[in-house]
Amino acid sequence: MKKIKRENSSVVCHDGCWEYLNNSISSSNYSKIFVLVDTETKKHCLPIFLEKTSLYEIEIITIPVGEIYKTIETSLFVWNALSKKGADRQSLIINLGGGVVTDLGGFVASTYQRGISFVNIPTSLLAMVDASVGGKNGVDLGSLKNQIGVIKDPKAVIVDSQFLKTLPKEHITSGMAEMIKHGLISSEKYLNKTWGFTIDNIPEAEDLIWRSVRIKNDIVTQDPTEKGLRKTLNYGHTLGHAIESYCLEHPKKPTLLHGEAIAIGLILETYISSEMFGFSNEKLNEITNKLLAIFPKVSFNDYDIDEIIKLLIFDKKNTHGTIQFVLLTDIGKSKTNCVVSNDILKKAFKFYKNFIAK
Ligand SMILES: NC(=O)c1ccc[n+]([C@@H]2O[C@H](COP(=O)([O-])OP(=O)(O)OC[C@H]3O[C@@H](n4cnc5c(N)ncnc54)[C@H](O)[C@@H]3O)[C@@H](O)[C@H]2O)c1
Ligand SMILES: [Zn+2]
Repeated sequence: MKKIKRENSSVVCHDGCWEYLNNSISSSNYSKIFVLVDTETKKHCLPIFLEKTSLYEIEIITIPVGEIYKTIETSLFVWNALSKKGADRQSLIINLGGGVVTDLGGFVASTYQRGISFVNIPTSLLAMVDASVGGKNGVDLGSLKNQIGVIKDPKAVIVDSQFLKTLPKEHITSGMAEMIKHGLISSEKYLNKTWGFTIDNIPEAEDLIWRSVRIKNDIVTQDPTEKGLRKTLNYGHTLGHAIESYCLEHPKKPTLLHGEAIAIGLILETYISSEMFGFSNEKLNEITNKLLAIFPKVSFNDYDIDEIIKLLIFDKKNTHGTIQFVLLTDIGKSKTNCVVSNDILKKAFKFYKNFIAK
């Protein structure tokens, strides 16, 4: 069994994960167990969950699919459902889904009656390697990402790669963006393995998922409340989140999956790293080539770019009105609290636009 034990939380990956969950539930005397799903994970993942746990006295709460439902209104719906179905402080919520379900479910659990226990069972690659681990839970405020939330660890995170069999292909690549980010901020050796991620080779896929979970967990354990080191997990996200928000708001722009927006953010922020901190140009070009081979290229005109830059003011790393980036001097070597001029930001978009992938 691959297991990480933190103070009040464990992450258990692959073999033995269900046994761990079943033992932990049967020794915990929960008054009621709720399972939060979206309509897709209800269809594809709930049957596996029921088979693996043999829990029959559970209440299922279903929310609609997609980032646009990661809202306070959906949270209200879930709080009401919990209340109507008699949830009390000894109840457990199991979040069975992608990052939207684990982010929102963790937030609802952490606030209902001032906080009840929850378990994350991530079913998308992105949620397995990133969203379900580390205790950040929350919802969007309009199109602004993750503006409302809390940091609270789940009791357990149960990672079973079996769920990936039904995950649509574009969501596999979306999850790869966070794995690539983990490689960029921590290790070139790991980065080089992430490019070839595929679920056709399950043992290797499980190994890479486990490595990403460990990278994230190591960082979060050293800096749970994001005073410094944890900010590195936001690499690619300062611009990535602004692009994601902008595209969510503008019907003429493609709706980007989280990982697709982050992939653009990774290119832009690696370019900025090369401009400001001498990140190798050769590596920049190689990384850009590889990212553009996996993720769609989006066109931004001057108006889009100005509007995206305006959205940076909502980034949660900002203090005293300055926008603070995480940048790299090399793969695995980061610098936090970097201030970047608008001129360099625009040059980064120009680099992205003019880059001809080979
Ligand atoms: N809390 C964090 O630290 C953190 C980190 C990274 C990302 N996030 C958040 O995660 C979210 C993105 O997560 P996501 O990409 O998993 O989105 P998602 O939850 O919307 O899942 C993607 C899609 O896949 C479907 N799905 C999930 N598992 C499936 C399965 N096994 N089979 C078939 N369909 C399945 C879902 O129903 C959905 O349609 C964003 O809101 C992002 O902000 C949070
Ligand atoms: Zn992310």
